[in-house]
Amino acid sequence: MEEFDFLVIGGGPGGYVGAIRAAQLGLKTACIESRGTLGGTCLNVGCIPSKALLHSSHLYKKAKTEFKNIGININEPSLDLSKMMGHKAKGVEGLTKGIEFLFKKNKVTYIKGFGAFKDKNTISVTDDANNKKDYKFKNAIIATGSVPVSLPNIEIDEKIVVSSTGALNLNSVPKKLVVIGAGYIGLEMGSVWLRLGSEVQVVEYLDYITPGMDREVSDAFLKILQKQGMQFNLSTKVIGVTKNKKGATVSVEKNGTKSDIDCDVVLMSVGRKPNTAGLNLDKIGVKLDSKGRVETNHQYKTNLDNIYAIGDVIAGPMLAHKAEEEGIAVAEFLSGKYGHVNYDVIPGVIYTAPEVASVGKTEEQLKEQKISYKVGKFPFAANARAKVNDEGDGFVKILSDEKTDRVLGVHMIGPDVGNMIGEMCLAMEFGASSEDIARTCHAHPTLAEAIKEAALAVDKRAIHF
Ligand code: FAD
Ligand code: NAI
Repeated sequence: MEEFDFLVIGGGPGGYVGAIRAAQLGLKTACIESRGTLGGTCLNVGCIPSKALLHSSHLYKKAKTEFKNIGININEPSLDLSKMMGHKAKGVEGLTKGIEFLFKKNKVTYIKGFGAFKDKNTISVTDDANNKKDYKFKNAIIATGSVPVSLPNIEIDEKIVVSSTGALNLNSVPKKLVVIGAGYIGLEMGSVWLRLGSEVQVVEYLDYITPGMDREVSDAFLKILQKQGMQFNLSTKVIGVTKNKKGATVSVEKNGTKSDIDCDVVLMSVGRKPNTAGLNLDKIGVKLDSKGRVETNHQYKTNLDNIYAIGDVIAGPMLAHKAEEEGIAVAEFLSGKYGHVNYDVIPGVIYTAPEVASVGKTEEQLKEQKISYKVGKFPFAANARAKVNDEGDGFVKILSDEKTDRVLGVHMIGPDVGNMIGEMCLAMEFGASSEDIARTCHAHPTLAEAIKEAALAVDKRAIHF
């Protein structure tokens, strides 16, 4: 029986990145993946296909509504949805094959099939043809990711009631789409279909959107999305979904009053849960926490000495870059090095238009933790580049420590802020003060000057506002 030093179950961003790093460090490494392609949720049905559709639908909407404002006259653009989907699929295919190439280059063995623990040192893999093969491991890494959750008694069929996976593959534009949950998936996929012509109605249990985000940004985001035509039913509870010949009826309740919303498609986006199904964790005694996540210590070790876990299947934000960092860290720990993930500096981005990006603490968290802070804000409406690009919605907000001026959090809504947040992550990793950022020369005219101005605004000395 073949034995590996580092045997990963799951070929998503946590698993495949960890496997490549382990192989680079000289460990005999394999990665088991049941999907048929590498890249996990992220590449196959998550980050990448959603961003492809966000990009295409953004261009479509711009061509339809904004080109004429800047002197570009074109015939009314029409939508070729199957071509748009084909473009997305081609991008995904190229990237997943790219990981196979990286595996070969780094000498990672790719094992196709579904892995389940047989005992504390053996994994049994069942392939598509139902053939079984066992592998021994010195260390196994559980990187099996997460799957969508639904609400009680509402079944996801991926046609009428869809998760993000179905919402990425609709074969026609729904006349009306009801989105349940105003989080990352609901607002990104809701934006895609809104731009392509759907009427989109979002039902959210809370009285605000995107829980966990700085409230000032979240409130501004809500207003901008409403201006774009997305409709919101906040403080609204979903009681049930009934499918019918035309689509579905979503029954909701707000302040004790019940009502029905008819629609063609329902997107269920109320969160995701760790995926541990079929792994036999109970059989070998790997502990889960109260939320069903694999419990680990700070070095990603489970309660068993040679079994580790990373990514969406453990605690922390369900984000691809967080999973990747953990994959690298666990490979380094197991090679006698010092892996490190700084959970205070994990950026979050929502890729709508405008984008929303944040890192570090929100104002609400600082208040709750009784940390005194200063605020510097700068609107994109006062940034020359945003202004000439007609992208003046949004702002940059920097929170720094009242006494030391160290940057504690940065929250932005505006054009391309998903790319700009990298600068803020670097600044925070280096322990920058807002003064450091304010004294750093930023190229003109760039959107990033809004960051410098927000840093100046911490000390009430912004120049252009
Ligand atoms: P996964 O990517 O879920 O990979 C786990 C893999 O394990 C899967 O391929 C699965 O098939 C395999 N597997 C499971 N069990 C077994 C088994 N027993 N044997 C063999 N293989 C198994 N995050 C971002 O940072 N940015 C984004 O823009 C973003 N967009 C997203 C959009 C959508 C629509 C969704 C759904 C998610 C998005 N995410 C995004 C989240 C991101 O996809 C996840 O955080 C990330 O994929 C987690 O990586 P992972 O390696 O932990 O698990
Ligand atoms: P989410 O946690 O982001 O949002 C879920 C929303 O549903 C919340 O606003 C919540 O209050 C609401 N909700 C929960 N129960 C409800 C109910 N019964 N009725 C109405 N609303 C309800 O979850 P989502 O959008 O499903 O995404 C899952 C995860 O995937 C995200 O948390 C994120 O980690 C990841 N993701 C990341 C993306 C990115 O980085 N750009 C994009 C898409 C997903």
